[in-house]
Amino acid sequence: MLAVILSGGSGTRLWPLSREAYPKQFLPVVSDESLLAETIDRGLKLDPQTRVMAITNEDHRFVVAAHMQKMAAGKVDGIILEPVGRNTAPAIALAALAAAESDPEELLLVMPSDHVLRDRAAFADAVQIGAKAAASGKLVTFGVVPTSPHTGYGYIRGGDLANGYAPVDAFVEKPDESTAKSYLDQGGYYWNSGMFLFRADRYLEELGRHNPDMLKACKAAFAGRESDLDFVRVDHEAFEACPDDSIDYAVMEKTKDAVVVPLNAGWSDVGSWSALWEIQPQDEHGNVCRGDVITEDVSGSYIHSEGRLIAALGVSDHVIVETDDVVLVADRNRVQDVKKLVAQVKTLG
Ligand code: GDD
Ligand code: MG
Repeated sequence: MLAVILSGGSGTRLWPLSREAYPKQFLPVVSDESLLAETIDRGLKLDPQTRVMAITNEDHRFVVAAHMQKMAAGKVDGIILEPVGRNTAPAIALAALAAAESDPEELLLVMPSDHVLRDRAAFADAVQIGAKAAASGKLVTFGVVPTSPHTGYGYIRGGDLANGYAPVDAFVEKPDESTAKSYLDQGGYYWNSGMFLFRADRYLEELGRHNPDMLKACKAAFAGRESDLDFVRVDHEAFEACPDDSIDYAVMEKTKDAVVVPLNAGWSDVGSWSALWEIQPQDEHGNVCRGDVITEDVSGSYIHSEGRLIAALGVSDHVIVETDDVVLVADRNRVQDVKKLVAQVKTLG
């Protein structure tokens, strides 16, 4: 199996800790290791045979390479560098083309680099179930039981479970809120966790069926590649001409061969400060504190200091994050709007 690690996003939802130049996958958000390091390790620990490949952009190549050397020495199957971002469907196509060179039926376990999975044993069980389906040609998704009508996720309606997985009856990427609410009311839906498992040749086949132009552009970009140590640089012009789309819209919504393996492994995509507060152990007042923090009569808050002492008094449901140059103070229920602050900061120059 090849763990294909996607590291192309520039998440700003954990601003001011996460920045465009240093997005959240490079940060030690829930442990002493970064999310990327945890992801590499999680992939490699599945099986002694597992190898790992990363796909990222030029700007992040050294930090990704350092992570790969530290966590996966001797098991790296390349770091593919995209000259421009074209979203996940082309990125995964490049990985599949690279893997297919040595084995077209190689199983690719696609993993976003910026998620948290608490229960590795449960994850490994789900992957094992998925591997059987993937080997037979299915495109496997991992479904999480939804707890809210979140509009930032894909929704999967599964059929009847047999052998630990179910056919996907419908895959809807990022529905609007009323649609998401109706899915929760109906029941039987999962959130798409954003991880996938399939054979390299089957992904390329399905991409070719539903998006032939994208496959063609990826093939041209890959054919024009240049290798330099672990780095594989695809052809700039050919990749620039590739249509931009996510695997969810480009393939998973359209394919008839998707299956879903239920995943109950403490998954979170750590998409906001409140998600980070939710998934971490809270003290008796419901606070999560990292770094130098003292509190008095504080409850339900996430408080994170990178350096200076944070002293908080008499507040509840707050997010306070201190970095070298920014202090964020927010209502914990408003953290989805951090992006509005990021937009304002950009205008400051
Ligand atoms: N290499 C590379 N190149 N990686 C990319 C690119 C790209 O152009 N674009 C995004 N990525 C990486 C991100 O870093 C992240 O790790 C992963 O691919 C998924 O991209 P996101 O942009 O975070 O997707 P999303 O969160 O909006 O939606 C996806 O994940 C949800 C779960 O968190 C979808 O798969 C949804 O269906 C799913 O519910
Ligand atoms: Mg995401």
